[in-house]
Amino acid sequence: MTGGIAAYKTADLVSSLVQRGDEVVVAMTDAAQRFVGATTFSSLTGREVLTSQWSSHEGLTSPHVHFATWCQCMLIAPCTMDMLAQLATGRTNDPVALLVGAIDRSTTPVLLSPSMNATMLSQPATQRNIDVLRKDGFTIIEPSEGWQACRTDGDGRMPEPTQLAAAIDESLSR
Ligand SMILES: Cc1cc2nc3c(=O)[nH]c(=O)nc-3n(C[C@H](O)[C@H](O)[C@H](O)COP(=O)(O)O)c2cc1C
Repeated sequence: MTGGIAAYKTADLVSSLVQRGDEVVVAMTDAAQRFVGATTFSSLTGREVLTSQWSSHEGLTSPHVHFATWCQCMLIAPCTMDMLAQLATGRTNDPVALLVGAIDRSTTPVLLSPSMNATMLSQPATQRNIDVLRKDGFTIIEPSEGWQACRTDGDGRMPEPTQLAAAIDESLSR
């Protein structure tokens, strides 16, 4: 998870994935934790939340390497404008980007759900980064249109949890 206003919807997604029997580990950037607390996600998943690349996690010294090979699929939702820029340039400056950097995407899909206000989404830099990431083999989940936290209607809403769960299923079935 990264620091977007749609982070509250990710709690619902995680809860529904856990209820259907999936094992979920959550990693959060510092900004993500300003929107929803890590305690929410450790309670929902029954697992520690990865909040720093520097602290040991569940007794693991390199959790990013462990979870990169453990997971069948990674989803970043919400995925900020800032995270798109990081990933498009291969930077690994926080626990979420570092985890992506350690994943072999030829075997493990990484899905991105870009979520931001319509102007941020339409910026040439954002559109360029999305194009680069698609070419690099990331799965981009198209943002939907509608009410935004900036109190206007526009493109850039994070899709609903059921749609994100369906995107995970589709990518795993492929
Ligand atoms: C109230 C508020 C809401 C924000 N919502 C979003 C958002 O929905 N999408 C986005 O890309 N950035 C949003 N931002 C900006 C990011 O939080 C900021 O760029 C942050 O540095 C992202 O860090 P991260 O990518 O490491 O999580 C918001 C900032 C604030 C203060």
